[in-house]
Amino acid sequence: MNLRDLYINFFVSKNHVQIPSSPVVPENDPSVLFNTAGMQPLIPYLKGEKHPLGTRLCNYQKCIRTNDLDEVGDKTHHTFFEMLGNWSLGDYFKKDSINYSFEFLTKVLKIPTTKLAVSVFKGNKLVEADKESALIWEELGISKGHIAYLDENNNWWPNMELTGPCGPDTEIFYFRSNEEVPEIFDPEDDRWVEIWNNVFMQYIHNIDNTFTPLPQKNVDTGMGLERVQAILDGVLDNYESRIWKDIIKVIEEVSNKTYESNKVSMRIIADHIRTAVFISADYASIKPSNTDQGYILRRLIRRAIRHAKKLNIDINSNWEEKIALAIIKQYQKYYKELEENKQVVLNVLKDEKNKFNKTLEKGLKEFDKIISNLENNTINKDLAFKLYDTYGFPIELTIELANDHNLKVDLEGFKEKFKAHQELSRTASVGKFKGGLSSQGEKETKYHTATHLLNAALKKVIGNDVHQKGSNITSERMRFDFSCDHKLTDEEKKKVESLVNEWINMDLEVSKEEMPKEKAIEIGAEHQFIEKYPDIVTVYKIGDVSLEICGGPHVKSTKCLGHFKIKKEEASSAGVRRIKGILDDD
Ligand code: ALA
Repeated sequence: MNLRDLYINFFVSKNHVQIPSSPVVPENDPSVLFNTAGMQPLIPYLKGEKHPLGTRLCNYQKCIRTNDLDEVGDKTHHTFFEMLGNWSLGDYFKKDSINYSFEFLTKVLKIPTTKLAVSVFKGNKLVEADKESALIWEELGISKGHIAYLDENNNWWPNMELTGPCGPDTEIFYFRSNEEVPEIFDPEDDRWVEIWNNVFMQYIHNIDNTFTPLPQKNVDTGMGLERVQAILDGVLDNYESRIWKDIIKVIEEVSNKTYESNKVSMRIIADHIRTAVFISADYASIKPSNTDQGYILRRLIRRAIRHAKKLNIDINSNWEEKIALAIIKQYQKYYKELEENKQVVLNVLKDEKNKFNKTLEKGLKEFDKIISNLENNTINKDLAFKLYDTYGFPIELTIELANDHNLKVDLEGFKEKFKAHQELSRTASVGKFKGGLSSQGEKETKYHTATHLLNAALKKVIGNDVHQKGSNITSERMRFDFSCDHKLTDEEKKKVESLVNEWINMDLEVSKEEMPKEKAIEIGAEHQFIEKYPDIVTVYKIGDVSLEICGGPHVKSTKCLGHFKIKKEEASSAGVRRIKGILDDD
């Protein structure tokens, strides 16, 4: 049976409820471009909101981590991966969590106990050493030598810097080697690979840098599907597992080359096209662009194209379509958006390919010219910018090409030039988004409630065709994207603003109710992509003016929101407008 099914069946048998995978883009969390862990969509519930499906949940979640994008090409790195996760929201804690993990690994997956090792938290100022977990592991048969006490750099999740729910964890490692298992577990020895992380989430790291206990003790676990599949298939290279076999085979066919002699480029193409397929099939409707998620999508496709060129694949043929179709076929049973949005995916890949293809050849020639005329070993900012601006080379591609020739790129200079051109103030390219969890403080919560009011006001003023297309909240402002076919007139903006403020001043009560999703739709609750919601949803109601399916959190009544102001109204993409708004404290 498929690993996903084994996992879900196991946790359902332990009274967990399966929740759907959320879209790849988090809602209301500007600190990350993509969901990087299964817990991300659950943040409100880890903080104490009641989840409509109960206190024991499990799922497989589409995750994208792009920090290591340039590492892809080796045996283990991927930009997209699936995380198998189970959660206790104030329900069970260490003992059951560890017991479940152990039972699943040794009984269901039949991994020998002797090949497992674990790490537990060695303690810091906030929490004492986790002897409790160590003892539970020992009782299950993990030898003392296979239990390591590690510090907060290893056994605290997500880490001590990021704000949001957090806590100490215990990590499970597998000895991925045919050699004899050492008696003492050395976490530095890379034959030991981490396969599962059980986080005991009991703190909230506040924006003012204090840690306070959460109202409930949670468990958040995450297991990397790709790694575990490789272990079960007995391969030392992830890309040789059953997950990748058919995809690599298509790449061998379209390139007429073998994986054996072209591993790096084939891994990059396989990984990047897979991630591009998942991003463009997602209900969040992302298209390649020069900012945010769209920029990552562009980088992935363009890097894949460059490596396809390295393999002498005829770029003008439908190679990318063949690879994408193999990926869609493999995953569509579990992610139905891939089948539904198949044509969208193929168009995104093809359009982006055609765009890049027009300049790629010339750009590579220009690059060769640049490096043959270099006076030192650095590509200066003007040349890097020219490659970006004229030839569509993402800066990371220029850096990668430069690395191939032992050259450097003046990245700082490039960034300055870039800013000067006002093309990209918030892009991921310059490493702004390192990943992190949202800090849903008081201010963010207010903005969150204000987006519901804004949504309702837009409907009243513009019409019922207005729907939310996205939102992004920081403690300083809100950004709200909505469907609308025209630029708002000054009068419309004024009306919307006054309506929101009128509702704020009426001090409307914010209440919530759980109900089946069909009922929520029937009563007209606003929603984005209905497919992603579980069967039972929470509907937030603000007075008689707004009804929305939402995970919260929200303020209790509207008066505290202060005064709402629209700062900017602009186009976001075709048929989608964007409002930037602020709340002034009165
Ligand atoms: N959220 C934890 C992780 O991503 C389980 O490792």
